[in-house]
Amino acid sequence: MSEKKDMDLTLKIWRQKDAQDKGQMVNYPVKSISPDSSFLEMLDVLNEDLVNKGDEPVAFDHDCREGICGMCSLYINGEAHGPDRKVTTCQLHMRKFKDGDTITIEPWRANAFPVLKDLVVDRSSFDRIQQAGGFISVNTSGNTQDANAIPISKIDADNAMDAATCIGCGACVATCKNASAMLFVSAKVAQFSLLPQGKVERKERVLNMVHQMDLEGFGNCTNTGACEVECPKGISLENIAIMNTEYLKASISKKA
Ligand code: SF4
Ligand code: FES
Repeated sequence: MSEKKDMDLTLKIWRQKDAQDKGQMVNYPVKSISPDSSFLEMLDVLNEDLVNKGDEPVAFDHDCREGICGMCSLYINGEAHGPDRKVTTCQLHMRKFKDGDTITIEPWRANAFPVLKDLVVDRSSFDRIQQAGGFISVNTSGNTQDANAIPISKIDADNAMDAATCIGCGACVATCKNASAMLFVSAKVAQFSLLPQGKVERKERVLNMVHQMDLEGFGNCTNTGACEVECPKGISLENIAIMNTEYLKASISKKA
């Protein structure tokens, strides 16, 4: 339990009826918020209050509330997932704020993530990038080789596992001044390219995923590194270097 007392806060929240609406910031007071509650629980309190008054609740995305699904996606006081490091919005606690604070809450802002309603954005562009190559084809005939029988170096296994922790939340895009998706795409490419199971389709994978990323309208990477700082899973910029190498090799072998 936190030593802090319950807090009264002012929320400045982006309200937008639908994808066509211009949208605007609206102020809401919330009272007696426990510092032990999560950020999303605080929004639940606000929404209950709005519903009780007959007002439209604030739409926001969430699912697991455990930092796993990547659904929660709020820009809080100008930072993707708020002021804490390496946590998602659902893992952010109100003890990070103080009584009397004004908290600004906005959706991700990127052309490739159009706002659907209030704080909810359409991240299906990420799904289409995944569909372009974020998978491996396996033999499911019944005589599949046991994965544990394939030797993999500890370094590669660890790096692949680290890359695989990307939850597809999109904070990297929302944080990047160019709205680049390079950190996300590189995590998906690196996770497979480091493992023997991913090597079979490695060339098509990187070419197709990067092509789809460009089609979706994400910006270019200019190496500012903001994505790595705000990523709730600590995905490393080294994955971008791996992806660039993979892309170069695949492009050369395609031309040869
Ligand atoms: S790289 Fe990090 S910030 Fe980007 S989608 Fe994956 S988990 Fe989210
Ligand atoms: S709700 Fe699933 S990661 Fe936040």
